[in-house]
Amino acid sequence: METLKLNDGGRLPVIGLGTWDIGGGRTSDRSRDDEMTALIRDAIEMGYTHIDTAEMYGAGHCEDLVGRALQNFNREEIFVTTKVLPDNLRYDDLLRALDGSLERLQTDYADLYLIHWPDPDVPLEESFRALNRAAADGRIRRVGVSNFDVPLLRQAQELCATPVVNDQVRYNLHTRAPEQNGLLRYCQENDVVLTAYSPLKDGVLQNGTIQAVASKHGATAAQVAIRWLTLKPNVVTIPKSSKRTRLRENLEALQLELDEDDVRRLNEATGN
Ligand SMILES: NC(=O)c1ccc[n+]([C@@H]2O[C@H](COP(=O)([O-])OP(=O)(O)OC[C@H]3O[C@@H](n4cnc5c(N)ncnc54)[C@H](OP(=O)(O)O)[C@@H]3O)[C@@H](O)[C@H]2O)c1
Repeated sequence: METLKLNDGGRLPVIGLGTWDIGGGRTSDRSRDDEMTALIRDAIEMGYTHIDTAEMYGAGHCEDLVGRALQNFNREEIFVTTKVLPDNLRYDDLLRALDGSLERLQTDYADLYLIHWPDPDVPLEESFRALNRAAADGRIRRVGVSNFDVPLLRQAQELCATPVVNDQVRYNLHTRAPEQNGLLRYCQENDVVLTAYSPLKDGVLQNGTIQAVASKHGATAAQVAIRWLTLKPNVVTIPKSSKRTRLRENLEALQLELDEDDVRRLNEATGN
């Protein structure tokens, strides 16, 4: 698996496994536990060594299933990202939420812990005091953020005792906010990895240019959408699928060789 170097020297696979809607959406769904645990295991065996989850997903149950799947593997070989809910950004709440995540994940540490969304009612100073403590005592190996714009990311960098390695935001061919608001450029110039979530949503698979480029290469629209993102400096992505054939298809996007003309056409293709 191709990886990107993080600003603390670690490495992050350019394609990770998204897990939203596994183990439930906003509430837990325990009806398909064995099936979903097996799916995550098979994904890891296929080559997904970065798993993206959150305490929010399935109200914690997604982390349970990821934790079960992890038991079959050498923990050190898997990069686990999880996220703290905006409701838990106070000092004690954050440390308690982290312990809950680690317990569900059946692990002593998260490779990367993100503030899922900022909460304007909680000072970032307070959240970062907790994150710095958790990083110092080894419960989290790296700190990152999600859905932060450039001014908030700068603040996070000032408050964080370790490098902020990552900002996870919505970014795909039709949602170009990170290009338009300067976040992508800021991340590229300041050695912060930008994780593009929802790479296949917002109607991108129906985009005419994506489909034309896909048919030129004998690839699928999803593979083009993913490859277009991973060719950008400092960008990784985390597509989710509950189907093994699609999981493999998405991973194989890395074999797609887009030429300069393809990339130019895709850059110019928007949803409008
Ligand atoms: N930080 C945040 O605030 C935030 C927000 C949203 C998401 N995320 C993370 O990012 C991950 C990815 O985002 P996402 O789940 O919103 O969207 P996504 O991965 O872009 O798209 C998932 C959807 O695409 C379908 N799909 C997957 N592969 C496909 C393929 N090859 N061909 C056609 N359809 C395909 C899936 O259906 P099937 O499952 O039926 O295949 C699912 O409906 C999430 O799972 C989560 O881990 C983070």
